[in-house]
Amino acid sequence: MKDITLLRHVDDLRAHIKAQRANGHRIGLVPTMGALHEGHLSLVNEIGQKVDTVIVSIFVNPTQFAAHEDLDTYPRHEAADLEKLSTTRASVVYAPSASDMYPSGFATSMAVAGPALGLETDERPHFFGGVGIVVTKLLLQVLPDVAIFGEKDYQQLLVIRRIVRDLNIPVEIIGGPIIREADGLAMSSRNAYLTRDQRAIAAHLNHILEQLAGSPHPPEEASAHARAALLEAGFSTVDYACIRDADTLDALGPETTSRRALIAARLGDVRLIDNMAAR
Ligand code: PAF
Repeated sequence: MKDITLLRHVDDLRAHIKAQRANGHRIGLVPTMGALHEGHLSLVNEIGQKVDTVIVSIFVNPTQFAAHEDLDTYPRHEAADLEKLSTTRASVVYAPSASDMYPSGFATSMAVAGPALGLETDERPHFFGGVGIVVTKLLLQVLPDVAIFGEKDYQQLLVIRRIVRDLNIPVEIIGGPIIREADGLAMSSRNAYLTRDQRAIAAHLNHILEQLAGSPHPPEEASAHARAALLEAGFSTVDYACIRDADTLDALGPETTSRRALIAARLGDVRLIDNMAAR
């Protein structure tokens, strides 16, 4: 196991990066909110093939949580996260405090349209503003050559690509594949909230998503089947189950060249999302 350099202040981070750059290193950033699982570690390994220095940020970002959401209870396991990362290509963890990221008087916000409209935004209207501001800050703090985000949050990945393009942030954004449990459930830090019974029901999500993605029926019909199947399996609410244009997340149209099936459904208070390429 190797030592990981833990940095909490942006000045220390920048000094460290300056030294790495002086050695000719390319820098990669993996933004996370901690509670790391195999999905995060695969992002670290994937980006590790493209850069010399991998920095993982761990920051539970308050601005992407609404007042009624799980900011206070979101799992925080920094020591365990550092241990997991010590077996990967990561060499630096950047874990700033909320007051360093959002000092008193912080007055900047972000509104994103385009791929941010609909789906997650219908349920979590604050979400992409919060993600946008923190990811923009992290990218400007680190100025990496490459940053990687999991495809599990597919809409988030498209939103971040759009922000980077719109604001001319000089970074390559790559998407990392979804890593799944043996029964197909996409790995997520929030899976820890599931009770035993809910965990059994959650396994249906991926199978219903596969049927939606491969359905020979027209998209509206396929979506209605997926909704009914989720409720039948025991999900309490279905926020969306649909097939969209994979590049824009718009409704399918003559311009569509590739499609994405996306589902968000709830088991009690736990909200699960998943997606995959559709036929
Ligand atoms: O996907 C996440 O873990 C978060 O939304 C991110 C990108 C780290 C921003 O807080």
